[in-house]
Amino acid sequence: MIRNETKQNEMKQQVAEAALEYVKADTIIGVGTGSTANMFIDALAAMKDEILGAVASSEATAARLSGHGIDVMDLNEALTQVDALSVYIDGADEFDAGKNLTKGGGGALTREKIVAAASDAFVCIVDESKQVEHLGTFPLPIEVIPMAGALVANAARELGGEPVLREDFVTDNGNIIIDVHGLKITDARGLEDHLNSIPGVVTNGIFSHQGADVVLMGTPKGVKVID
Ligand code: 5RP
Repeated sequence: MIRNETKQNEMKQQVAEAALEYVKADTIIGVGTGSTANMFIDALAAMKDEILGAVASSEATAARLSGHGIDVMDLNEALTQVDALSVYIDGADEFDAGKNLTKGGGGALTREKIVAAASDAFVCIVDESKQVEHLGTFPLPIEVIPMAGALVANAARELGGEPVLREDFVTDNGNIIIDVHGLKITDARGLEDHLNSIPGVVTNGIFSHQGADVVLMGTPKGVKVID
C-alpha cells in the first residue's frame, strides 16, 4: 500500500514538473487544488518571477502560492488586466477518453470551474489511476446551498445515485458538499447540465463544458501527453 502510494506520488511529481512547460512568461495563470496541484505550485516557485501572478482556485492554494512568494490575484482584478488567464493547471479525480473530468475530491469544484472557464486552456495533471472508461466510479461531488440539501439528495436518488453528505466540511463559499455514489456517467455533458439545473445546486464536479484541453498523465514509463 505504502509502495503504491509512493509510486503514485512519483507519477504526480512528474506531471507537476511537466506542466511548467505550459506556463508562459508575462501572463497570469490559474492554479488548481489538491495534492498534484500542490506539487505543481512547489515547482512553479522556481519560475515565480517570470509570471505576472496567479489566480487560486481555493484558499488553501492561495496560501501555498503566497508561501512561495507568488503573487496571488483576485480573478476580477486579473480580468481587468488581461482578457483571459493563459492557462489553468489542476488535477482531477477521473478523466475519460473525451477529456471530460470529475473533480471536487478536495471540495474546491466551484472555484476550480470558474478559474478554468476564465482560462484559455486547461492542462490537467494526473497519475494513470485517474483514467476511466466511464466517469462515476469516484463519488460525484455537488456543491449545494445548505437549505437545498434534502432537495438535491432526493434528485440524486431519482438518478439512481446514493447521496452522502460530506461530514464536517464547509466549502470556501460557505456551502455543503453532497457526494453521489454509484453513478455510471455515460452522458457527462447531459448530467452536468441536469444537475446544475436543480435549484440550490451551485455546481457539480463534472467538468465537461470545462473539460481538459491537454491531459498530462503520469505513468511508470514517464509522462504521456493526451491532447
Ligand atoms: C480538488 C480537486 C482535485 O483536483 C482532485 O481531487 C484531485 O486531487 P489530487 O491531485 O490530490 O489527487 O478536484 O477539488
